[in-house]
Amino acid sequence: MSDSPRKILVTSALPYANGSPHMGHLVEYIQTDIWVRFQKLRGHDCIYVCASDAHGTPIMLKARELGITPEELTEGFSREFVNDFADFGIEFDNYHTTHSPENEEIVGRMYKALRDSGDIYTRTIEQSYDEKEGMFLPDRFVKGTCPRCKSEDQYGDACEVCGATYAPEDLIDPVSVLSGTTPIKRESEHYFFRLSEYEDKLREWMKVAALDKNVIAKLDEWFDAGLQDWDISRDAPYFGFRIPGTEDKYFYVWLDAPVGYMASFKHLCDRTDGLEFDAYWNADSDAEVYHFIGKDIMYFHTLFWPAVLKGAGFRAPTSVYAHGFLTVNGQKMSKSRGTFIKARTYLDNLNPEFLRYYYAAKLGPTIEDIDLNLDDFTARVNSDLVGKLINIASRCAGFINKRFDGQLSDKLADEGLFAEFADASETIAAHYENREYSKAMRLIMALADKANRYIDERKPWVMVKDENRLPEVQLVCTQGINMFRSLMIYLSPVIPVVANDARAFLNEDDWQWQDASSPLLDKNLPKFKPLLTRVDADQVQRIVEQSKESTPVAEAETEDEFISIDDFMKVDLRIARIAHAEPVEGADKLLALSLDLGDQQRNVFAGIKSAYDPAALVGRHVIVVANLAPRKMRFGVSEGMVLAAGPGGEDIFLLSPDEGAKPGMRVK
Ligand code: MSP
Ligand code: ZN
Repeated sequence: MSDSPRKILVTSALPYANGSPHMGHLVEYIQTDIWVRFQKLRGHDCIYVCASDAHGTPIMLKARELGITPEELTEGFSREFVNDFADFGIEFDNYHTTHSPENEEIVGRMYKALRDSGDIYTRTIEQSYDEKEGMFLPDRFVKGTCPRCKSEDQYGDACEVCGATYAPEDLIDPVSVLSGTTPIKRESEHYFFRLSEYEDKLREWMKVAALDKNVIAKLDEWFDAGLQDWDISRDAPYFGFRIPGTEDKYFYVWLDAPVGYMASFKHLCDRTDGLEFDAYWNADSDAEVYHFIGKDIMYFHTLFWPAVLKGAGFRAPTSVYAHGFLTVNGQKMSKSRGTFIKARTYLDNLNPEFLRYYYAAKLGPTIEDIDLNLDDFTARVNSDLVGKLINIASRCAGFINKRFDGQLSDKLADEGLFAEFADASETIAAHYENREYSKAMRLIMALADKANRYIDERKPWVMVKDENRLPEVQLVCTQGINMFRSLMIYLSPVIPVVANDARAFLNEDDWQWQDASSPLLDKNLPKFKPLLTRVDADQVQRIVEQSKESTPVAEAETEDEFISIDDFMKVDLRIARIAHAEPVEGADKLLALSLDLGDQQRNVFAGIKSAYDPAALVGRHVIVVANLAPRKMRFGVSEGMVLAAGPGGEDIFLLSPDEGAKPGMRVK
């Protein structure tokens, strides 16, 4: 390539480390990884960093509920993300966490810069407060009616219906998600960032950032509505970084989350000779920085983030690339339908490259949602990858192996045809560059059709019967293998493992993008091994079945759906007698119960400590879910669940059976 290598830093959004990676997440990480691999293949200097988003109220509360520390919670899920991403071929140059010293240092530095330049001020505000839980209720822990479009049951930070963002106390008829009580209003001093002063700078940035037109439309909408200053602080208790100079104020998770991009990069710089943090992040940097994100987090990335960066004296991102949301079989992913598929469930059953290809075949540069239709997935992968692409090689390689000792001829049978494959190079490259992956895949598959037609017409399997035509067979098969090779190079950002196997078969050490334009001739090839096998519909069905099984009861409840009587009958409810009860050291809410179920003993942890004295529980009969899969908790394994009702605190009521009920009896 004539142009000199670009210096590019790429990020994907930092996943919240309080749940497992699923097929929806993968849209983004696969989209980004393809782009990064493409840039590297083109010879550019491209670095891809990510991290776990470890802060905020949901993480703090989930850890509390499980009786573990937020660090333990996020480390556990981070490991899942790291492993699942790696198995999907998503290759980060660094994966870090926002709960890191690098992040705390950079956030602190930015905060001070903003404060010194007058971009931060404090103001006392009234905020929703849950008296029962003793804490302010930020964002998603208040639900109510959207103040803009009046949709009910919306979270306190943003409306999922109209996209408005607001403060929890702006909701109409708010309710605390934690206790179900109506929050009161309480005053507290908060720290604000003067976003309102940044409209001109943001409008300027928007012009140079080459954003997608849908993203620009959103920004225009937000400008028209007027930019509000941004509340960047939260009161204790909060899991995050304490604001320097305060006792009990913390940075809001969305302030330090994007800084996590820089911190992960810093963490990489600290371990890499010659990689300079400042060269990428100084205001006058000539490096390119791109953030890949989902459409749900545009506000944070196209308004707050560039403004904070500019305000603190750093460069703003070159662009922000937003994608749409994943639907499965045309609908929102659903646990009861088995379409809420975890990354690991997929990996247990199918080749990850299939999904990479399928997403690529569907993805464009817009925020339009993309659909994973499972029947279409099976058909598409089989017809494109196995039927068209791999078929070219398997039809030619056998003859080269068997009849010519693996030797390719020293020229092509049809140079004009090969030139068509070479000439597509820049068009395909432009499609990748512009995130028009579906266009790139279509063009590549059209070329694969052409290659197959060529082989169909030449019929090497007929020629090979005639000794005189053997040289021609070698030429035709060399032609076929070279067309296959160019397509494999073009596809290598999408299906890197298959491409790697193909490269090994072609006996080449390394591929660069431009290698696709010159043929491989006069070369000896090892024996060809099949590169892919077909997907069968049963494998896909198995994924759906397994995704149904892994449905946690509590999460299924959050969907607007009924469960069937069959689902209900699966729950084995039994009478149990509490044989022993004791507090759990280090856990605020838990009691450890030994339950007598008649023919067996069970150890169960129950979050009822705030309402019951352990001694008074002994001998009491309760109802227990007896066939709940054992769950490993920090303090041991819990082998069931005791049923209770009520909002929490002192108001927890164990469901007690009438007299005469005996341990082990089935509840019907
Ligand atoms: N922690 C924030 C991002 C902070 S970035 C400084 C967050 N985390 S997330 O885990 O909820 O989402 C991570 C990314 O995955 C987001 O870009 C989000 O849009 C994307 N997706 C999560 N679910 C998705 C689908 N169902 N479909 C497509 N993308 C989705 O947001
Ligand atoms: Zn709304």
